[in-house]
Amino acid sequence: SRVRRYTFNVVMKNSTKLCSTKPIVTVNGRFPGPPLYAREGDNVLVRVTNHVKYNVTIHWHGIRQIRTGWSDGPAYITQCPIQPGQNYVYNFTVTGQRGTLLWHAHILWLRVTVHGAIVILPKLGVPYPFPKPNKEVIVVLAEWWKSDTEAVINEAMKSGLAPNVSDAHTINGHPGPQSNCSSLGGFNLKVESGKTYLLRIINAALNEELFFKIAGHKLTVVEVDAVYVKPFGVDTIVIAPGQTTNALITADKASGNYLVSASPFMDSPVAVDNNTATATLRYSGTLASAATTLASVPALNATPVANNFIDALRSLNSKTYPAKVPLKVDHRLFFTVGLGVNPCPSCKAGNGSRVVAAINNVTFTMPTTALLQAHYFNKKGVFTADFPGTPQFPFNYTGTPPQNLATTNGTRVYRLSYNSSVELVLQDTGLIAPENHPLHLHGFNFFAVGKGLGNYNPSTDPAKFNLVDPVERNTIGVPSGGWVAIRFVADNPGVWFMHCHLEVHTTWGLKMAFLVDNGVGPNQSLIPPPRDLPKC
Ligand code: C2O
Repeated sequence: SRVRRYTFNVVMKNSTKLCSTKPIVTVNGRFPGPPLYAREGDNVLVRVTNHVKYNVTIHWHGIRQIRTGWSDGPAYITQCPIQPGQNYVYNFTVTGQRGTLLWHAHILWLRVTVHGAIVILPKLGVPYPFPKPNKEVIVVLAEWWKSDTEAVINEAMKSGLAPNVSDAHTINGHPGPQSNCSSLGGFNLKVESGKTYLLRIINAALNEELFFKIAGHKLTVVEVDAVYVKPFGVDTIVIAPGQTTNALITADKASGNYLVSASPFMDSPVAVDNNTATATLRYSGTLASAATTLASVPALNATPVANNFIDALRSLNSKTYPAKVPLKVDHRLFFTVGLGVNPCPSCKAGNGSRVVAAINNVTFTMPTTALLQAHYFNKKGVFTADFPGTPQFPFNYTGTPPQNLATTNGTRVYRLSYNSSVELVLQDTGLIAPENHPLHLHGFNFFAVGKGLGNYNPSTDPAKFNLVDPVERNTIGVPSGGWVAIRFVADNPGVWFMHCHLEVHTTWGLKMAFLVDNGVGPNQSLIPPPRDLPKC
């Protein structure tokens, strides 16, 4: 293993898309940002320098950060922000992971343009558990907003109403040849007949789950969230914000142009950017002007297409890569995730109320100092360790008419002892509308052992859990009007954020944190904070 050093300069850069130009926040002037490469076992040092007017942090989404919570990145959870003109060195070791992840800004809505790929290669000399591709290609899916996203969310928080939606989706920074003013632009996936390619697909969009497909070509999925899966073939991948998928594609045609598409998936009637981003898979020797073979794009609410993909995911569970599913459970938790409405006398546009989001009816209040520091230095009054392990009152979660719309506010964490194992059922609520929430857990991977529609039934559903080869990941869609059950071992001391990866829901409060105590053995404690850790 070796040390990999990166320099990330956060700078403004003018960018032109959809017929207009605006300055965007970037890393090193790039959108998407520079990819970060490491091998399993490497020590990664990224010096981030903030040259913009906003406070900044960077999160290494999916990196376990074992004992290095100081480098995780969520603002006011594990660190105070890097202020304008300041810098901070993120320092972590890649442990027990290989595949694709992403890094992104973790403050305000800056991740809209501040994001990029993390490519973790296996240790030197260790092969992939699938045929070696001829070439690897990073495919970052994101959103493009004509307006300033910070202004959009500020306005929404003031009015109490839902914010606007993006103006386009993008593939490697481009809305694509089918979008306004973009007929010449767009990402070209150049292939040679007979060769195979590994696509490292990342959804970095703020608020949209996406379908991804390539006309005329099948995708063989081999990994999600930097964990190998049992390979399976599909036409369409579904990928939520924060998720990553590695898929093999064989260029099995002689020539031609084929449409690549990223289109939204939303299984509830809420505001959505319904634009499809496009790119071109082009065989060498084919002219750009030659006709393009099109593919039909899945409907916005094509839930069966999404389920077809999600239900096929299984851990590889081979001898070399066994699925270590926790079989005993120390903490049995039941969290409702969903939206609510709270009074807001100053919200004129919202008629005196505002949309909020909550877990177990708690709308998380962001602290003004980082929780990890407060925990480490025993600073009182920053958070309380009384997050409810079940809803504060039972109700018919997916029923109508809506019940218990109001939530309570608090900076409350749930405390776990070191190495305890957790089963957590995440239940969507249909209070305003049922909706698919991609929940992301920092600091851990978890196994998705069960999933169902309607209200979770604790007496009959656990019998159906898959404890043999469930998919292991860090971000999972809680199905609209349904539930998922996950299991993980709390083997990482620190404070770990868990939140909906739809940025609008995070902002509304769909977030909480786990506090994991130090263990008593060697190498079971949080390392001391680095000297350059930013102060609030
Ligand atoms: Cu990718 Cu806390 O987020």
